[in-house]
Amino acid sequence: MATVFVSTQLPGTGVAELAREHQVILGDGLLAASLPGDVAALITVLTDRVDAAVLERLPALRVVANVAVGYDNVDVAACAARGVVVTNTPHVLTESTADFTFGLLLAAARRIAEGDRIVRAGRFTGWTPTYMLGTRVSGMTLGIVGLGRIGQAVARRARGFGMRVVYTQRTRAPEAVERALCATYAGWPDLLALADAVTLHCPLTPATQHLIDRRALAAMKPGAILIYTARGGCVDEGALAEALERGPLAACGLDVYEREPAEHPRLLACGRAVLAPHLGSADTPTREAMTALAVANVAAVLAGEAPLSPVTK
Ligand code: GLV
Repeated sequence: MATVFVSTQLPGTGVAELAREHQVILGDGLLAASLPGDVAALITVLTDRVDAAVLERLPALRVVANVAVGYDNVDVAACAARGVVVTNTPHVLTESTADFTFGLLLAAARRIAEGDRIVRAGRFTGWTPTYMLGTRVSGMTLGIVGLGRIGQAVARRARGFGMRVVYTQRTRAPEAVERALCATYAGWPDLLALADAVTLHCPLTPATQHLIDRRALAAMKPGAILIYTARGGCVDEGALAEALERGPLAACGLDVYEREPAEHPRLLACGRAVLAPHLGSADTPTREAMTALAVANVAAVLAGEAPLSPVTK
């Protein structure tokens, strides 16, 4: 029986099942100073920072199971140096996040969130032919940054909307993948110049920090839309607000922020910004599946077996 520290309440039955085999401690966040020294497994969420201070405190630690596909909150190199396995929860949230991406795109392009605010405020004074015209989604060229699991799921949905899909990433996808998705590879400048909407599905790394900066925004089409559900750090929010205020962007839809939770005064002031509170994978079956996968990773490592979804650096 090992000690497992779960940093916060998780949906589903996974943690209760783990508690039949191991001593499970449910925490209220991950504070290094309050962690018992004999913890062998940590189940963390994206708001926890697994850093040197945490690792120092836990000499018996064998696995960090992050309940998220992104793992920029975990110092993977420091874990590797101590022989601590790090796992994430890919696959189980792919479709949910792709659904949400399309929700943001539709809401931003067709002014759904903005319209909702107008109706609630009693400011809908009647239909006219020129009232609240938005951007047509069907048939647009969609630029996908990162054709990984979620990018591909977005590309599949795009076909149903009659979109042309262009994508970019460090390494071009295999031809069979491109063909199956009808996705055309483009270099970074071409993607920005071609896309009516750009959607980011890349991890946050030093290389993607402020990938969308003032220069990238200036290279986008007049009237373009930016969508992102990845990590807020990929976008310079000040530059984004400016691109909404002065162009070229018509609208944006975002689910993640440079600092969470946080106020975004300039973005809040942009009527055409759809701002979601980090809900990309927030449906019940998805969150339960994420918990179950994290728990299965912990159980495997504690049993001396290979984890199901280790991360690699
Ligand atoms: C959510 O943001 C995740 O990385 O799973």
